[in-house]
Amino acid sequence: MSRILITSALPYINGIKHLGNLAGSMLPADVYARFMRARGHEVLYICATDEHGTPAELAAAKAGQDVRTYCDEQHEVQKNAGDAFGLSYNWFGRSSSPENRALTQMFCEALDANGLIEERTDKMVYSIDDGRFLPDRYVEGTCPHCKFEKARGDQCDNCGRLLDPTDLIDPYSAVSGSRNLEVRDTKHLYLLQTKVEPQLRAWIESKTEWPQLAKSIAMKHLEEGLIDRGITRDLKWGVPVTKDGQPREGFENKVFYVWFDAPIEYIGATQEYFNAQGDADGWAKWWRLDQGADDVTYVEFMGKDNVAFHTVSFPATIIGSGEPWKMVDTLKAFNWLNWYGGKFSTSMNRGVFMDQALELLPADYWRWYLISQSPEGSDSSFTWEQFQGAVNKDLADVLGNFVNRITKFTETKMGGIVPEGGEAGELEEKLYADLSVLLTEATEAFEAMEMRKAAQAVRAIWVLGNVYLQEAAPWTALKTDAVRAGVVVRHGLNLVRLFAALAQPLIPFTAEKIAATVSTTLPLDWPTTDARAELSKLVSGTLVASGEVLFKKIDEDMLADWAARFGGEA
Ligand code: MF3
Ligand code: ZN
Repeated sequence: MSRILITSALPYINGIKHLGNLAGSMLPADVYARFMRARGHEVLYICATDEHGTPAELAAAKAGQDVRTYCDEQHEVQKNAGDAFGLSYNWFGRSSSPENRALTQMFCEALDANGLIEERTDKMVYSIDDGRFLPDRYVEGTCPHCKFEKARGDQCDNCGRLLDPTDLIDPYSAVSGSRNLEVRDTKHLYLLQTKVEPQLRAWIESKTEWPQLAKSIAMKHLEEGLIDRGITRDLKWGVPVTKDGQPREGFENKVFYVWFDAPIEYIGATQEYFNAQGDADGWAKWWRLDQGADDVTYVEFMGKDNVAFHTVSFPATIIGSGEPWKMVDTLKAFNWLNWYGGKFSTSMNRGVFMDQALELLPADYWRWYLISQSPEGSDSSFTWEQFQGAVNKDLADVLGNFVNRITKFTETKMGGIVPEGGEAGELEEKLYADLSVLLTEATEAFEAMEMRKAAQAVRAIWVLGNVYLQEAAPWTALKTDAVRAGVVVRHGLNLVRLFAALAQPLIPFTAEKIAATVSTTLPLDWPTTDARAELSKLVSGTLVASGEVLFKKIDEDMLADWAARFGGEA
């Protein structure tokens, strides 16, 4: 048994997340966490809302609320949505917590003590009409690299490059739209990333086992060359800047940049979790190498736009602190899940958001679709037709039908119990052989965090069960050989139990219902690759009850209605 620390990129507080956000970090992290728990490992899955910076301030202003109230409310909204989707965080924290504030200030002071912080006078975009500086997302304009016209001051959404607001061509204020901007002097703290470049490079180059997307993005950023980064902003909402525990002179009206404090919240949220349990030192065994964290395996999940921050900025902070912090072992990144080839967009009513999705169908329908279409190799697109196919074919026809058919048959023809007696025959031997191969495939895919492959392998096991049942045809056997029928039904019911075990990470709500049909409760251990053993776990005489239909099919009317409501045209 090992200890596995899992984090998914912290969702911005600025409103409930859409299915693309879910597919690109939180959901696969949850699947991995559930898989690892079923494998018997001790898992700590941490997430939080990312509450500082311009996204929070802009959204609060739009909602007509003060930022604190806005964040309090939206944190609850996102926490509830996550629960409803079955996201099994051990803790869902807040980057505005006192724990994160203290850690963030401590990191900066440690960096400062190591000569890695410098005060520099910067030229920053100032809006005369708004009467304020416009950091990061407060300013938009044309990307100097790819000429995308709606690039934000911190990053271009089109080419992914990190930007400074002053890089933008034809900038305008995101608050007022005003182009009446000028560049003014302002003092900021810089993290001297260039000084830790050699250590950073050595660390990234040592990560040969990282999944390909994360590794290639990390290398690209290294090749482009590191620059020193401003880590403070002219904003009110955020972590105040300190020196020796006191407000830092000249920085009284500034706060840390959101991307400085957000990843630190992975640690902060762990502290929140242990503090809530009255175990104030408990967090350290997960994060401090000098306090037991050296045997932790740490895995991060995120969308591709976040990789630079997790492979360069945050590691630079940690390395620069000179302290023995646990660093990420494996970083799993995702491409975009698009909406019909374009972006999800709240303002244009394109796409489905987490709360809306659950008004249409239960969480497992979405979880299955999003994982089986996971944007791993390239960007992928949501379409209603594909969603319908995944639900009607995979879930209803292949999985739901199997469970329903064999449990109903047991109820009506076999007295509602797992039958006893008889020996495995040729068809069962073939089933064992094929199943062992697929169990190995599925387990390896989950281990490697290859979500599509994992879902495919699990689906292949469902198909195998159907093929077996069709060939072994207990309904025919029953007419001439009751013992033989019993052998087949017993194997079928054991497959039901196996399906429940395999479904746990992917569709946990349904896994519970499937298990209940054969009087079994979760959690079940993750199956071994010994198929013969896996298919002899149910004791003869166990009660069987078919229960409710597992999945409703999506018909054409539903599809047309949803396409009209949520935008379903390219
Ligand atoms: N809020 C950021 C985003 O949605 C992700 C923050 S990840 C963290 O892009 F590491 F900084 F926390
Ligand atoms: Zn660009």
